[in-house]
Amino acid sequence: MKLTRCDHTPAWTALQTQFDTDGRSFDLRTAFAADANRFATFSQQAPHVFADLSKNLIDAATEQTLLELARQCGLEQHRDAMFAGDKINNTENRAVMHWLLRNPPLALMHSARPAIQSVASELAAVHTTLDAMLAFAEKVRADDQITDVVNIGIGGSDLGPQMAVVALDGYVMPGKRFHFVSNVDGHELASVLKKVKVQNTLFLIASKTFTTIETMTNANSAKAWFEAQGGTDIARHFAALSTNVAAANAFGISTTFGFWDWVGGRYSVWSAIGLPLAIAIGATGFRAFLAGAHEMDEHFRTAPLAQNLPVRLGLLDVWYRNFHGFTSRSVAPYHCALKRYPAYLQQLEMESNGKRVDASGAALPFDTSPVLWGEPGTNGQHAYYQMLHQGTDVVPVEFVAVKKPRASLPGHHTLLLANVLAQAQALMQGKTDAGGHKHFPGNRPSSFLVLDELTPASLGALIALQEHRVFVSGSLWGINSFDQWGVELGKVLAKDVEARLLSGDGHGLDGSTAGLLDRLRA
Ligand code: F6P
Repeated sequence: MKLTRCDHTPAWTALQTQFDTDGRSFDLRTAFAADANRFATFSQQAPHVFADLSKNLIDAATEQTLLELARQCGLEQHRDAMFAGDKINNTENRAVMHWLLRNPPLALMHSARPAIQSVASELAAVHTTLDAMLAFAEKVRADDQITDVVNIGIGGSDLGPQMAVVALDGYVMPGKRFHFVSNVDGHELASVLKKVKVQNTLFLIASKTFTTIETMTNANSAKAWFEAQGGTDIARHFAALSTNVAAANAFGISTTFGFWDWVGGRYSVWSAIGLPLAIAIGATGFRAFLAGAHEMDEHFRTAPLAQNLPVRLGLLDVWYRNFHGFTSRSVAPYHCALKRYPAYLQQLEMESNGKRVDASGAALPFDTSPVLWGEPGTNGQHAYYQMLHQGTDVVPVEFVAVKKPRASLPGHHTLLLANVLAQAQALMQGKTDAGGHKHFPGNRPSSFLVLDELTPASLGALIALQEHRVFVSGSLWGINSFDQWGVELGKVLAKDVEARLLSGDGHGLDGSTAGLLDRLRA
């Protein structure tokens, strides 16, 4: 596989020229006035997700050059290498196969491509574990004594299942409550423990490595609480979700659902880490979630680049970050059940692509991951949209709207949809007939994703779409999107500082850390 970093391609130079001639001064209002087909040209249906990209600062010529950039970088080969199980996570020498978790079993595939045959044993193991995990989920669902499920995990072992359980609240089984404890701040666990009873609680200890200090501290405290309350049956009330079965056993847990080192933490909601979701929405719902994601995988794997939604979104990300110089993207889900979606995407994009060296370790001469941030609409409108409309920075916004409401209170959904449409319209049109404080420059870009309904399948497709668009920009940037060395240093230093907090020894520390240590101890 021959990959070429974006800045080493002729298309990169061509894009810079295009940006300097037309790109910088591109005006959306002029573009719509000049082209009656702009909406059709820049919108498309992908599995479960319709996307209108027409309100972005892009014309057909630029999109063509971006597609050429993708070809020159070897994006298709890189994608195919991922879907063949090659070890594309080079710094950890691992394959990247979260997509395999949503692949149907070989027996149900009409014709399996050769690459699938080469990972047949992994696929068989995926389905053995999935069947066991879903059987367990159904057992918990049928068990009226278990009313509370407490997931203890952090990062990918929290954000994915939490985001999905909240997003699919309409499908959650009545009579079961779900709690997510991630922070080592004891207030979080303590407040959950106040609400639950030993005999009615199932603790899920979710950790890929089973070594993460926050999760282990919370897990130990939960176990101590359980025993202090008279609980004895750990086998019934604790299960582990981990690649490290030995460590889970050593902790005293006999029921462990495993997964594999080729599943990154932030890509793990499809694995055993999804057990809280499986309990919440049942085996059928969880299989639909996987199936929706698989449809998006197939779209990404097979659609021509020009009609490939993850590719088109990832190329826009590169255009905005490296040519327009936009530093962030705001995520605006107009569905309150998607309230954890921005937090989920923060880890997905920023832990994957927040890198300053390429896959070979060479320093990059261009910018990578934007900052992602956002809140559900319409709440964001009354907090920070002021800055989106009139601030000095241009922030591309990615709206998500859902056509069919889940709640049926009269009038609400029309008002919600009116707001999301109006915000996208206002960002683009601006208001230029009023001066001073009332002037809106407009020409502010946005993408608009539409789901017909928020279902397990459409959520699966939406999340897989986001995973693959992150792959696209990371691939063009030449970085390894699947490691996360940047989280290590803080973890190591925290161990040293913890000992110093206990002993009061500030010797050899920088002046600020020593001063703060004193203040926090006093
Ligand atoms: O923050 C670093 C990280 O390794 C994430 O990538 C991961 O999702 C999280 O910690 C939790 O890790 P684990 O599942 O091993 O506890």
